[in-house]
Amino acid sequence: MSPATSPGPVGTAPGPASAPGPASGPAPGPPPGTGPGIGTGPAGPPGPAALRSALDTAAPEYADNRAAMLGKLAELDTEQAAALAGGGEKYLTRHRERGKLPARERIELLLDPDTPFLELSPLAAWGSDYTTGASLVAGIGVVEGVECLITANDPTVRGGASNPWTMKKALRANEIAYANRLPCISLVESGGADLPSQKEIFIPGGALFRDLTRLSEAGIPTIAVVFGNSTAGGAYIPGMSDHVIMVKDRAKVFLGGPPLVKMATGEEADDEELGGADMHARTSGLADHYALDEPDALRRARRVVARLNWRKAHPDPDPATVREPLYDPEELLGVVPGELKVPFDPREVIARIVDGSEFDAFKPLYGTSLVTGWARLHGYPVGILANAQGVLFSEESQKATQFIQLANQRDIPLLFLHNTTGYMVGTEYEQGGIVKHGSMMINAVSNSKVPHLSVLLGASYGAGHYGMCGRAYDPRFLFAWPSAKSAVMGPQQLAGVLSIVMRESAAAKGKEFDEEADAGLRAMVEQQIESESLPMFLSGRLYDDGVIDPRDTRTVLGVCLSAIHTAPVAGARGGFGIFRM
Ligand code: COA
Repeated sequence: MSPATSPGPVGTAPGPASAPGPASGPAPGPPPGTGPGIGTGPAGPPGPAALRSALDTAAPEYADNRAAMLGKLAELDTEQAAALAGGGEKYLTRHRERGKLPARERIELLLDPDTPFLELSPLAAWGSDYTTGASLVAGIGVVEGVECLITANDPTVRGGASNPWTMKKALRANEIAYANRLPCISLVESGGADLPSQKEIFIPGGALFRDLTRLSEAGIPTIAVVFGNSTAGGAYIPGMSDHVIMVKDRAKVFLGGPPLVKMATGEEADDEELGGADMHARTSGLADHYALDEPDALRRARRVVARLNWRKAHPDPDPATVREPLYDPEELLGVVPGELKVPFDPREVIARIVDGSEFDAFKPLYGTSLVTGWARLHGYPVGILANAQGVLFSEESQKATQFIQLANQRDIPLLFLHNTTGYMVGTEYEQGGIVKHGSMMINAVSNSKVPHLSVLLGASYGAGHYGMCGRAYDPRFLFAWPSAKSAVMGPQQLAGVLSIVMRESAAAKGKEFDEEADAGLRAMVEQQIESESLPMFLSGRLYDDGVIDPRDTRTVLGVCLSAIHTAPVAGARGGFGIFRM
């Protein structure tokens, strides 16, 4: 199995089976000057700002952490295998027997050889009634040296029909393309709306077609390659794209198929007359390119990209100047404790993901529960905010606010490394102004204009999730480690709060409180909140862009930073809301 065929954040297409996996060697990258600049040189000697690791890889805690993380990664692999299996053996065999390629093989043929493919939301629909992966493959890959946002329907899953999670995944892909100015390539073969769930997708799903024309209006190229069914609403995918390629004898692009036309007008017509590639290439003019077969269509798509005259807003960093971290990323497996109540030093993570492990801390003696500072990652400058002891106090909030403003003044993207239980509660802290200080930080994050990247390493609870640029704060990309947990608060706290509220309510009504029922309810609520806090559940609901192997963090962020620099990076100069002092 070649890596590009495996779901997961990073694959290399099509090439040696080397990823996803430990990113301990130089990251895969295209030849210099032809694509994302994420190649790196050797580690080299420590620079003046190099972090010194205190991680004891011989300690039993390290071994325990590593074992816990590997256990979670094994679970993740199982779920990703389900996404890879798509509609299952029966439908895959039928698809191949029809002489068609599966979605991931289409992507492989489209991409430049030996370049990374960052698959997005591979676990979409996990935990729902729909197939994991949501009958759509989405990701960022390099075509003719151009980073593109690629989506491919998986026709082996219910004919490639779009269910509510497919729609969310496709809309998210469009959002990423728009924010980062990535040309969009849609590999189309879909039965359109998943009919039983039409009520959930018909009305909001219209945004998919709207997005295509808005991308086009913004000068972002859109390319549709039609391999099969693209009918009814689906016809608007090629209809609204800048460039259209259709495959001979396979593409079917019409508003209404033969039965519908017969019903509506009494006309007898066949598929080919109504919407075949030949007809659209010669008669209607909807197809710009007539491909003889699937490989020919993908070759033509590559030629279209080659002629886009596409230029990134910022040049790629020179790979020769980019240094690997001094510490082995493999050790990232042992940093985060299995039990999130145990704190860990996020500098151990920073030391294993940034260039040369060099980090210039900002205000290291003030608000020490939040580590802030400057670094480079695959040559791109980043400002990093990382939770240390979990809780955010007033000092941390003010420090974060100042730091975010500085990054905006200097046009430096921000990286948020989450491990927070939220803002501090209690009389002392309320009187000290924790609400207004937390609000300052959330204000700064909300109005910051530099690109944000978020990685949930451990806890990401309560308003801490917001202040650290959670999903609703529009980070350009958000990934979770398998160790992450996110919810309004921890399961025990939530169950405890609920119990207190119910006890008070019973007392107010003069009723006796049933201690036994309360204990049962607490246990049930705890279990429910725990399962809803886990990364696979959250990823299934599209609350992140993927759950990643910690060892891939540097590579994943490098691909993202390269994609981000396709669009101009410009911070806010002022333009924040009122900061309460
Ligand atoms: N909604 C829900 N389920 C769908 C579906 C849709 N739009 N399209 C296909 N399916 C299901 C089929 O019922 C079938 O399920 P089953 O295997 O459990 O019986 C499975 O997906 C595969 O479909 P099948 O028709 O066997 O596959 P195919 O490759 O031969 O044909 C299509 C695929 C898409 C051409 C064909 O299924 C079709 O015409 N679907 C309806 C298209 C349509 O009118 N959509 C509405 C547009 S808004």
